[in-house]
Amino acid sequence: MEKKKGFSGSIGFVLAAAGSAVGVGNIWRFPYLAAKDGGGVFLLVYMVLLLTLGFTLLTTDVAIGRKTKSNSLKAYGRISKKWNFLGIITFVVPLIIMSYYSVIGGWILKYSVSYLNGMGPSLSEDGYFGSFISKVGSPVIYNLIFLAFAVIIVFRGVEKGIEKFSKIIMPGLIMMILCIAIYTLRLEHVDGEGVKRTAIEGFKLYLVPNFDGMSVGRFFQIVVDAMSQIFFSLSVSMGIMITFGSYVKDDVNLGKSIAQIEFFDSFVALLSGAIIIPAIYVFSGTSMLSCGPGLMFVSLPKVFAAMGYAGKFIAPVFFVMVLFAALTSCVSILETVVANFEELFGFKRENICISAGIIYAVLSTLICFGYNILYIELPLPNGSYAQLLDLMDYISNSFLMPFIAFLSCIFIGHIVKPDFIINEMERDGSVFRRKRIYRFVIRNVAPVFMLLLFLESSGIIKL
Ligand code: PHE
Repeated sequence: MEKKKGFSGSIGFVLAAAGSAVGVGNIWRFPYLAAKDGGGVFLLVYMVLLLTLGFTLLTTDVAIGRKTKSNSLKAYGRISKKWNFLGIITFVVPLIIMSYYSVIGGWILKYSVSYLNGMGPSLSEDGYFGSFISKVGSPVIYNLIFLAFAVIIVFRGVEKGIEKFSKIIMPGLIMMILCIAIYTLRLEHVDGEGVKRTAIEGFKLYLVPNFDGMSVGRFFQIVVDAMSQIFFSLSVSMGIMITFGSYVKDDVNLGKSIAQIEFFDSFVALLSGAIIIPAIYVFSGTSMLSCGPGLMFVSLPKVFAAMGYAGKFIAPVFFVMVLFAALTSCVSILETVVANFEELFGFKRENICISAGIIYAVLSTLICFGYNILYIELPLPNGSYAQLLDLMDYISNSFLMPFIAFLSCIFIGHIVKPDFIINEMERDGSVFRRKRIYRFVIRNVAPVFMLLLFLESSGIIKL
């Protein structure tokens, strides 16, 4: 019953994994966190965490997948029966994320369509985004269209489909984002009061760390933000990279592939920040930078409007690009859900795909209603108030993922021992260069860090 599974080679794996990793996390979430958390300091913390904890978690996921040749649901149990439960908890994360990812995809689709239709100016009006998401009808429709695309892609082609799709999308995305970044960095603008601001100044703000007046509490908040961003952005600790790892052939150099995925993911995030932050600085000064999740949907349209003629061209290109990035990520989440159900029940893949499509059509519609009929303001342990979408995001990214990462570090670092992963990394005969740092982080740093994050986000401790 085993189908011919597997990526065609290392590049297929890298592009598919990068297709999953690069999504709204890089283009929407990273820039607003970087802007909110003081630019350079956030960047520095993010890079340090990426090269230590992010790398360790990604390596662990991919190597477990290839070693066990099974997706996340069964992978831990294949290593040790007692740890089967970890696969089950891990599966809960994509189940939850899938319920809201297409909602954000729908918003991006709406903006792309509007820009393509030349309706850009209305998108930059005050209150536009808020009034759009609080409508009952259209966010649901855009969400369902986005979801339908994801379902069709997963329906048509297992990992080969994802590979083919990502092979076209990923290089295109990188080229587009690079061109827009180069264009943006040349911008300058004189505002109504005669003050001239250049993108280079904004770029410095983004890049150069400024520790003036930084308190310990604030620094820890930046660390928490950066870590949750790494989980989300690298698609780790949710089983997706385990599933992808299980499709990788034994002769692929995993260490090299993982470094390439890290590079792709951070490259797109850093460049997105280098586009959005200087552009907002040039046209709106520093005050707009701390506006949070609305940064891309609220502030960016204003920037495009201020760019005049060039904005008319850049805006649709930008949003379509984000749309594709979101679609490849959504496909990877749905693929994991479908693959796990296939393994669990042995139903036909096509039937699972259609059933999942119907169930998520209902769930994501409910999430859309979270901004109108089902509006709530639920206080979260971190002090913010959540609507349904934020609640799902919080449960999966801030609560479950550190918990899963903690358990998986204890399991690999102290029970199975890191050599289990290191041997897998060296199976093709290559040398796993970062093995010392891997061993140290998975045994000592990651468990403590993940536990702290979990206790913080569940409100048990306050730092
Ligand atoms: N990593 C994706 C992003 O940055 C999001 C994602 C989350 C993808 C979970 C798969 C699973 O947008």
